[in-house]
Amino acid sequence: MASSCTINLPLWALIFFALSLNPIEARGPVGRLNGKSPQWTAAGGICASSVHIYGYKCEEHDVVTKDGYILNMQRIPEGRANTSGVSKRQPVLIQHGILVDGMSWLLNPADQNLPLILADQGFDVWMGNTRGTRFSRRHKSLSPNQRAFWDWTWDELVSYDLPAMFDHIHGLTGQKMHYLGHSMGTLIGFASFSEKGLVDKLRSAAMLSPVAYLSHMTTVIGDIAARSFLAEATAIIGVAEFNPKSGLVGTFIKAICLKAGIDCYDLLSVITGKNCCLNASTIDLFLANEPQSTSTKNMIHLSQTVRDKVLRKYNYGSGKSNMKHYGQALPPAYNISAIPHDLPLFFSYGGLDCLADVTDVKYLIDQFKFHDTDKITVQFVKEYAHADFIMGVNAKDVVYNQVATFFKRQS
Ligand SMILES: *[C@@H]1O[C@H](CO)[C@@H](O)[C@H](O)[C@H]1NC(C)=O
Ligand SMILES: *[C@@H]1O[C@H](CO)[C@@H](O)[C@H](O)[C@H]1NC(C)=O
Ligand SMILES: *[C@@H]1O[C@H](CO)[C@@H](O)[C@H](O)[C@H]1NC(C)=O
Repeated sequence: MASSCTINLPLWALIFFALSLNPIEARGPVGRLNGKSPQWTAAGGICASSVHIYGYKCEEHDVVTKDGYILNMQRIPEGRANTSGVSKRQPVLIQHGILVDGMSWLLNPADQNLPLILADQGFDVWMGNTRGTRFSRRHKSLSPNQRAFWDWTWDELVSYDLPAMFDHIHGLTGQKMHYLGHSMGTLIGFASFSEKGLVDKLRSAAMLSPVAYLSHMTTVIGDIAARSFLAEATAIIGVAEFNPKSGLVGTFIKAICLKAGIDCYDLLSVITGKNCCLNASTIDLFLANEPQSTSTKNMIHLSQTVRDKVLRKYNYGSGKSNMKHYGQALPPAYNISAIPHDLPLFFSYGGLDCLADVTDVKYLIDQFKFHDTDKITVQFVKEYAHADFIMGVNAKDVVYNQVATFFKRQS
């Protein structure tokens, strides 16, 4: 059966590129942003621009990873609603996907935003911002202008970023936490929990648009893009930072579009047409705030994941190099089935999601066939695509309330 998807991972970049083609001019000179809400510039940080404005408490936190990155986090310790009946608020860590940051959860009106909804439901809400995104471009000794700053992939998010965030939350609250990931936020969660690193601090996990296997890619553009990325990454390999807003990456993406025979200018309508439930004002705000940079090496790793069908650590390209890094010729695999079988899990995936493709999600869920059956909840949202899970105007009713109920069941 032909897939309805025109695009696929890891080319969020493609999407962003297409989306960013017109809005800059359309939005007018920067001066016109004066008078708009602070959300347009995120000046003063995420709490100031996007949480305080709705009347919620919010704290900015910095955590330092074992390899020296300084990551920014936000904590929304309580809601506006009267939850004085709640004795001890359980922490929830919300982890965004690739090429965006925590801000992407806060662009809708307050009553539609996941972090605020969870706070109102009585949770102690924490938001992560992975290395390289705008408020986490800091390191104890490196600067983002240096190549070494970008020498990482999602393997390092698994080994360093998540543990730093978990330790920080656990240290301050003394409690086990719930985890909520979207897209690459689910990938690093699965990989981490399979290595059992953080499960002693984990109460349950909700995975929206879950991705771990990306190989059932039937679409032309995704396939070409992934292969091009490996074959032609040399063109941009000199650029360690993958910034979709930069000219070099733009040129590369244009070349992919040309090869695939698609008009990148059409992608905006393709994407927004597929996400059933986005608010046009929110999309504008989204484009003003995202995309965020990642490392080129991370994009290559994701392309390898598309190609290889097995979830492995970064492949250095030759048996010899891998031997040097891992002591074996093939990069070590992550074993999803090794996630503790009694970990409560909630999956939600969309029928129109081109990135977390239905076939791949089904394959992923199949890896949990030995999981305790009463610990798994699977929700399928037929009309949802990738971004609906972050910004859908009806996501509160369709997904977020179900997530909150699931978390409360694990108390
Ligand atoms: C909040 O709810 C509690 C009981 O659930 C009640 O005793 C208290 O008066 C409420 N406070 C406000 C400000 O409504
Ligand atoms: C869309 O967003 C705007 C601006 O935040 C808001 O005023 C409007 O109510 C939203 N529409 C829906 C359907 O939620
Ligand atoms: C993965 O983990 C499962 C459960 O612990 C185990 O039965 C299986 O042998 C593992 N697979 C590999 C390839 O190590």
